[in-house]
Amino acid sequence: MTLNFFPSQKINTNITIPGDKSISHRSIIIASLSDGKVLIKNFLDADDCNRTVEAFKKLGVDIDKDNNDIIVSGVGIKGLKPPSEDLYLGNSGTSMRIMLGVLAGQSFTVTLTGDDSLSSRPMNRIISPLSKMGAVLKGRNGNNYAPITVKGSKLTSIDYKSPVSSAQVKSSILLAGLYANGTTSVTEPYKSRDHTERLLSYLGADIKVDKTKVSINPVERLESKVISIPGDISSAMYFITAGLIVPDSKILIQNVGLNPTRTGALNIFKKMGAKIKIIDNSLDTSFEPFGDIEVETSNLKAVIINERDLPSAIDEIPLIIVAACFADGITKIYKASELRVKETDRIESMVSNLIKMGADIRVEKDDIFINGGSLLKGDKLKSFNDHRTAMSLTIAGMACESGMTTIDHVDCVSTSFPGFFDVLQQLNCKYEIN
Ligand code: S3P
Repeated sequence: MTLNFFPSQKINTNITIPGDKSISHRSIIIASLSDGKVLIKNFLDADDCNRTVEAFKKLGVDIDKDNNDIIVSGVGIKGLKPPSEDLYLGNSGTSMRIMLGVLAGQSFTVTLTGDDSLSSRPMNRIISPLSKMGAVLKGRNGNNYAPITVKGSKLTSIDYKSPVSSAQVKSSILLAGLYANGTTSVTEPYKSRDHTERLLSYLGADIKVDKTKVSINPVERLESKVISIPGDISSAMYFITAGLIVPDSKILIQNVGLNPTRTGALNIFKKMGAKIKIIDNSLDTSFEPFGDIEVETSNLKAVIINERDLPSAIDEIPLIIVAACFADGITKIYKASELRVKETDRIESMVSNLIKMGADIRVEKDDIFINGGSLLKGDKLKSFNDHRTAMSLTIAGMACESGMTTIDHVDCVSTSFPGFFDVLQQLNCKYEIN
């Protein structure tokens, strides 16, 4: 599918965004290990999360869907069953990496497979710590790539210093820690998203957080409670960016997750001079903060983004690069190597397309320098089959000066945001898909 559209202006609307992808994955994984029926509200019905649902069904868990609500009949921490076939996880790195932690502690062997993109993403960052815990994992090509076969084993706890700030690595080790013989700890260079810690704690796990170190002790059982998932801040960020850079616009986005480990891009935008209002509506009982965000077209200025700023904004850096093209001055993003190992190399995918549109961007190793202020024009762009590249380029095309933007293979948006084009319609963006 190819998307064709012209620039927009004067967007003035209120929107809601579907459930958070990271929390949706974790809700299925952790509810499956709980001791009863768990109602999950506002689950994200997107390809990636549905891969996790299908995988856990094959591991013997009853999961019923009723629109965006899901009922998981938890089988207990030790209740998963060996699947009769390999578990195919499509494009979903989160499913593969986090599930490996759970599967490492089982008493059976299973193979996880994925599409071409997932099969070319590094897995050693998970295989190495889980092997230190005593699990037996075998990947392709130097033990770094899927398919990965994991032979569940008796696990020994570790105190792991992760070389990367990655919530997938952290979550995998913490879940393996549920099956280990003592306290398992993970320390990251900078804190990554903490949804696993919050959900495990909400369901009664024995978990402690001390700055960038998280420790877990095994427990006999996890409780079953209602899990309400807020709107996905990463999906909201497409329209937040549009509201900031499309002329004469004002957008209100309701019921969005406001977890501080995910709102780094909001802080970066504020430093750039963005007009952003945040209304926190969290309840005392919510395990994740949420609220409304209102944005208005703003005169943005350049910003410097360092390594420590990246984990809480990692999936939004493509949008920051887009916004920086519309800002005064040179935005500098340092040490963004993690962007190279996402669903595609997002430095390459974003920079090559934006340069084609007329942007002035220079890349030196993993540092990106964006000289804002060039007038962008629509052009024929490539999504690289990556959902976040496709949607970020759509926002660039909406805000550009003139010309038609064409983006190829936009079906990939269904990975995280199947309703993306419906929201575009609400924003008065006239587009054709063919
Ligand atoms: C995710 C963590 C991040 C993020 C990904 C989702 C998660 O990846 O980029 O989209 O749900 O844990 P890393 O853990 O590799 O940083």
